[in-house]
Amino acid sequence: MLAVMKRLFIASRGNPEHLAQLFRAELPDFDVLTEQPKDGDADVPYIVVGRPLPGVVRAVPGLKLVLSLNAGIEHLLASGEVPEELPIVRLVDDGLALGMAEWVLAQALAWHRNLFLYAELQSKGEWAPQPEKLANERKVTVLGAGALGRPVAEHFVSLGFHTNVWARSRHSIPGANTFSGMDQLPEAARGADILVNLLPLTAETADLIDTDLLAVLADGAFFINAARGGHVVDADLITALDSGKLSGAALDVFRTEPLPIEDRLWQHPRVRLSPHVAAPTHQHMAVKEMAANIRRFEQGEPVRNVVDRSLGY
Ligand code: NDP
Ligand code: OXD
Repeated sequence: MLAVMKRLFIASRGNPEHLAQLFRAELPDFDVLTEQPKDGDADVPYIVVGRPLPGVVRAVPGLKLVLSLNAGIEHLLASGEVPEELPIVRLVDDGLALGMAEWVLAQALAWHRNLFLYAELQSKGEWAPQPEKLANERKVTVLGAGALGRPVAEHFVSLGFHTNVWARSRHSIPGANTFSGMDQLPEAARGADILVNLLPLTAETADLIDTDLLAVLADGAFFINAARGGHVVDADLITALDSGKLSGAALDVFRTEPLPIEDRLWQHPRVRLSPHVAAPTHQHMAVKEMAANIRRFEQGEPVRNVVDRSLGY
């Protein structure tokens, strides 16, 4: 008798065939589909999604698990496209964690050692040494202590920065001061020279970075946003940049992406922006993680990194 193959549907709009090849290598006993299965077709228990078009997830018969190609899944929750009873697995893998640490540290060190300033001075032909500090003379606050925030904080600690980390629950991170809950946010951020945002976008964290929070930072602080544009009140950010409260900001994420060309952030002299590339998904690594989770599900073991819908991340 022929064994019935399990089915997996890649609903990514990027390059589904490449992903399908990677999945076929990891899960040779699976039928990996890149065409939309329909009602009446054999069940397809697994779907891999980025930003699925409306109706795509609901049209898949017999779905049991939704695997996200992204770490942030607020778009899947907000769209209502994934039925309540279906677990969503967000992406957690070394590729994201390593990439994020590289990007955040690159921005932080470039600001800390005045490299942005020297690039500006070079363009004006000015030889103007600035006062230089060591990491142990700077304070960093990292918002978020999850899969991405924690390794970033550990890197700051290892470089000698005074490091504060704020999350919903209290974490223990050797060498860092940890804080939890909304009432401890001002204390966590007070006097920080560098503020790094690595929170998920939820009802609680939306618009968190506003004038009140920026006001408690050190004067001339640097803000790094690698999480979501919806965390930031853009008007407050621009006011803080214009006033010099912030000496600069490195922004990878925006409320609207791509960032509309008329947006002031494009031209702001104190903003360094990049097109949502801080931690791109490295497909060969992501597929290994997702395949391992599918195997766990198949064997009745707990699946890792399932989204808690009540918390929104
Ligand atoms: P995790 O879910 O692993 O970590 C989230 C952290 O935020 C946890 O420490 C959590 O606290 C904390 N948190 C959540 N809600 C609150 C709250 N209300 N108050 C205080 N702390 C809170 O997420 P990741 O680290 O994997 O990813 C973080 C975000 O990074 C993603 O959601 C995504 O938006 C963004 N991202 C951006 C990328 C880019 O290229 N720019 C790439 C990948 C991700 P606790 O530990 O107590 O649960
Ligand atoms: C994200 C991602 O969540 O790219 O931003 O994974």
